[in-house]
Amino acid sequence: MQALRARAMMREMFLLASLALLSRVPSIGSSSDYEYVWNARDDGQRRCTAIPEDLRLCHGIGYAQMLLPNLLDHESMAEVKQQASSWVPLVHRRCHAGTQVFLCSLFAPVCLEKAVGPCRLLCESVRDACSPIMEAFGFVWPEMLNCSRFPLEEKDLCISKNNTGISDESEPTPACPPCDIDMNPDVILQNMCASEFAIKAKIKKTTIENADKKVILQKRKKEVRNGALNNTELKKLVLYLKNGAHCPCQQLDNIMNHYLIMGRKVGKRYLLTGIHQWDEKNREFRRVLNEIKTHKCSALDSVFK
Ligand SMILES: *[C@@H]1O[C@H](CO)[C@@H](O)[C@H](O)[C@H]1NC(C)=O
Ligand SMILES: *[C@@H]1O[C@H](CO)[C@@H](O)[C@H](O)[C@H]1NC(C)=O
Ligand SMILES: *[C@@H]1O[C@H](CO)[C@@H](O)[C@H](O)[C@H]1NC(C)=O
Repeated sequence: MQALRARAMMREMFLLASLALLSRVPSIGSSSDYEYVWNARDDGQRRCTAIPEDLRLCHGIGYAQMLLPNLLDHESMAEVKQQASSWVPLVHRRCHAGTQVFLCSLFAPVCLEKAVGPCRLLCESVRDACSPIMEAFGFVWPEMLNCSRFPLEEKDLCISKNNTGISDESEPTPACPPCDIDMNPDVILQNMCASEFAIKAKIKKTTIENADKKVILQKRKKEVRNGALNNTELKKLVLYLKNGAHCPCQQLDNIMNHYLIMGRKVGKRYLLTGIHQWDEKNREFRRVLNEIKTHKCSALDSVFK
């Protein structure tokens, strides 16, 4: 009897969750039927709350109310916002059609009696598509998103590709994420905020080292943005394009140019996190350069932490 009731409940939750995600019903959590069920629960801890506009990762995802604490045990909205913001850039990179749904099922679960998290397969599919990009910037897929924590679709109620209509096709991963030549100022600023320094430099030569491409710079360099480097480090700077041994990086084809180069220290090495041709004749470039010099990265800008 108990089991039957539980099954029925699960089915209902499943339907609600699918509905919310599938048909983008605004504010399923505040439907009066549901509110009734919700308020009937004697649970002082969990609460439904509106997804605020500045929770950029999940605002507008298709439902208006989320559950707190969420599935990552964030207790307060401030904590959710802070933690979620570092994932916005990954969503912008469009590595997988399900990235946002996956992340939001954890950061801002649909407001149902019980939070419904992602299925393992969805997790694995997003991870496989997106972790190469994270790695290129020196970040690893975090343990809190370890896919083996999430249930199998056949066994448990969860958010899957099947019940959300997310297409299975991931976008082709850009072979060389730091070499994206898109002059989109937002993307460049995001890159910069994931970096520790920005310099103007010429390239002496590039070589291949294991799976990476090693980029040796000419001695003369100019700091564009005060970073973590002291003069000694700056002079000797050698950068690595992670997993980039053979990736097509147009910018590196003509090494006579000056470049705007961004990087960050990971372990003992400096990773190349962005490279753009230095083109002061280009208005867009000048604008970006100006922004780079003055833009304040807030804690909320940090990427993939
Ligand atoms: C994920 O969690 C499982 C089970 O706890 C563990 O065996 C595995 O090593 C973890 N994977 C990673 C990449 O940390
Ligand atoms: C999900 O959909 C795929 C193909 O559309 C199907 O093969 C698979 O069995 C479905 N999984 C579940 C658990 O329904
Ligand atoms: C510069 O930084 C490196 C690494 O952090 C350190 O070993 C070195 O002593 C520093 N040099 C100066 C002149 O501060």
